[in-house]
Amino acid sequence: MKPRHLISIDDLKKNEIEVLLENAASYKEISTREVKKVPALRGKTVALCFIEPSTRTRASFEIAAKRLSADTLSFQSKGTSLEKGESIKDMAKTLQAMKIDALVLRHSSCGVHYQLTDYDFSVINAGDGMHEHPTQALLDLFTIKDKIGRLENLKVAIVGDILHSRVARSLIKVLKLFEAEITLVAPPTLLPPFLTGLDLKITNFLEEVVSEVDIVYLLRIQKERAALSYFPSEREYIRFYSFQLSHLKKLKKGSFLMHPGPINRGWELSSEVADSDVSLIEEQVENGVAVRMAVLSYFLAGEGGN
Ligand code: CP
Repeated sequence: MKPRHLISIDDLKKNEIEVLLENAASYKEISTREVKKVPALRGKTVALCFIEPSTRTRASFEIAAKRLSADTLSFQSKGTSLEKGESIKDMAKTLQAMKIDALVLRHSSCGVHYQLTDYDFSVINAGDGMHEHPTQALLDLFTIKDKIGRLENLKVAIVGDILHSRVARSLIKVLKLFEAEITLVAPPTLLPPFLTGLDLKITNFLEEVVSEVDIVYLLRIQKERAALSYFPSEREYIRFYSFQLSHLKKLKKGSFLMHPGPINRGWELSSEVADSDVSLIEEQVENGVAVRMAVLSYFLAGEGGN
């Protein structure tokens, strides 16, 4: 049987996402036990290859695999033969010869995962350039359901560096499956052309939406992708798009603030806001382990139709 891959949110049907969220709720309980381990993936081998920096995704995938009793091997480009010029396809062929069951890959190139879909293992996208970050979108969806209690009829504002954000691309797709009303809040220069034709509201003013939405989702300014050159000054960005205490006071009761991390304190949000009761940033990280356990078991233990 050919392995299934998770490269984009498009690889999952809506009913599969619902199953994954249900499974994640069960897996979340395992992390509260004294012995945080179940045998679901005993005998499976998960390779974690992070060619771009990561803390949350990398740690949570590794913890998830270990809590499911899989064997893991974790590496970056440094110290591997990628540094000596080996291609990603030859690396994949090498790992296939060692009979891995899944490759969790973060890479700076959009779509690189599609080159690796003919091997005997599942390819799971842990973020590829500006393209997609599907497991981040799933953990965000899980967190929203957990806190708001529903996924239907949500109003969500996505704020900031949308142009460079793989998180935004995956999140918009998954929220649209559940018919959310999405408002993008960004300087015109950080709104990418791919949005044309999608049923999205757009504004350049954060002030306009804070009192209307259930979730304000702040995106990181991606300095490594030259985002700072897309607006005139730090002061102007902070004035119009940074979530401050003044916005917190206007937030609708029962609404929450999210951010995929890592946060730039003082840029996307103030420290008081980041550490406030309405911030779900820590919950997102916690839920990342449960959701990635659900993803790995779905794709590797046959639940996903392997
Ligand atoms: N949200 C996210 O992908 O964080 P890391 O870069 O730390 O993995």
